[in-house]
Amino acid sequence: MAETVAIILAAGGSTRMNTQVAKVLHEVCGRPMLAYVLDACREIGISKIFVVIGFSAGEVKERFAGDDDIVWIQQDEQLGTGHAVLRCKEHLKDFDGQTLVLCGDGPLIRAQTLKTLIEKHESGHSAATLGTAILNDPSGYGRIFRDDYGNIQGIIEDSDCTPEQLKIKEINPSNYLFDNQALFEALETIKPENVKKEYYLTDAVSSIIATGHKVEAITAVPPDEAVGINSRAQLSAASKIMQRRIQRRLMEDGVTIVDPDNTWIDARAQIGQDTVIEPFTYIHGQVQIGQNCRIGPFAHLRHGTVLKNDVVLGVHTEVKNSTLADGVRARHHSYIGDAMVGRNVNFGAGSITANFDGEKVNKTNIGDNCYIGSGSVLIAPLELEDGSNVSAGTVVLQGSMRGLSGKARIDVSK
Ligand code: UD1
Ligand code: CA
Repeated sequence: MAETVAIILAAGGSTRMNTQVAKVLHEVCGRPMLAYVLDACREIGISKIFVVIGFSAGEVKERFAGDDDIVWIQQDEQLGTGHAVLRCKEHLKDFDGQTLVLCGDGPLIRAQTLKTLIEKHESGHSAATLGTAILNDPSGYGRIFRDDYGNIQGIIEDSDCTPEQLKIKEINPSNYLFDNQALFEALETIKPENVKKEYYLTDAVSSIIATGHKVEAITAVPPDEAVGINSRAQLSAASKIMQRRIQRRLMEDGVTIVDPDNTWIDARAQIGQDTVIEPFTYIHGQVQIGQNCRIGPFAHLRHGTVLKNDVVLGVHTEVKNSTLADGVRARHHSYIGDAMVGRNVNFGAGSITANFDGEKVNKTNIGDNCYIGSGSVLIAPLELEDGSNVSAGTVVLQGSMRGLSGKARIDVSK
């Protein structure tokens, strides 16, 4: 691959989303949408990524602090996608390689598709290569306009289309590869002469064609990668597609998901072989689940949960920021928060760790082979020694443990 940099456009707010938050920070399956676009670039080996930001720029930078392959480019006024790319000129005017341009609101694009785009661009010796998609419902997207020989003539924005052009089903998902010099030359020529009065990047493509350079549009983007997120409805549609991908990957890794439509798993979750996820399970955040576990139905696993192997969590059990060793069971209505739980501990129905005292969150440590009876409340901070046996209905305070050895039986009277 010739030297390639990427530009990701992420400066816009979003009127259609009706939001105060930068659009690219809205989450798809637990991660901000921009994260997926960055990953796709990294996966194909791009090590320098210019991200154009403007609306809520501070928040965007903060969220990706530590990603040192990103060069942040400020676009104070959002005058259009062409204007946004032109903000990078300072850094790229002398660059002789190729420039991939993507939108931060298109998180579904896959690395494999970008790879195809680059290969076609290089083998075709084009000045620009666009990936396009055919959509049953192309509304809202720029349409690809081809001549009678099938050569691309330009991209017409939805708002600028004639009724006849609106029928074109081939759209621009905003996945472009440019010869960098051709790109920046073309950007100098575009004018905001359109319905929105914006500087369109799509006009730079027409300009390159007009100067006689080779531009190819290849229908290489599958419909499920072409979704751009402009509204909350598209955000949920994209999340659904991403959720299916996450679940498919997990199933290939040997996880049983009994009812994929009624299960939600965060993109960051890791799940081991032969674990079974029962319906209505919700896994959010960085969660690690080992092998041969059985989770759900109706389980809720939150950020920082680590389950080793053979763990069983049943109906309405919630776990947060806790590590559960091999063989732990909590089959019904438990809450386990900020706890370290030893091997083979059994939580009876409705037993919980009371981890928040109204001011701060406190830790619970439970040794191996403990039995926590139904309806018990373990008030943190608390340590239970190996083999402790808490009888049903007990409220356990650290003080109540004084003088009791392991295997002690604690009951309501203590
Ligand atoms: C754009 C394309 C359209 C394509 C669609 C694919 C143009 C003119 N249109 O339309 O052909 O079908 O994407 O999803 O390019 N942005 C900036 N600065 C700006 C304006 C936009 O950084 O001044 C960013 C936005 O934050 C967004 C991306 O560029 O991430 C695309 O902008 P958006 O307004 O969503 O363009 P679309 O109307 O979707
Ligand atoms: Ca968009």
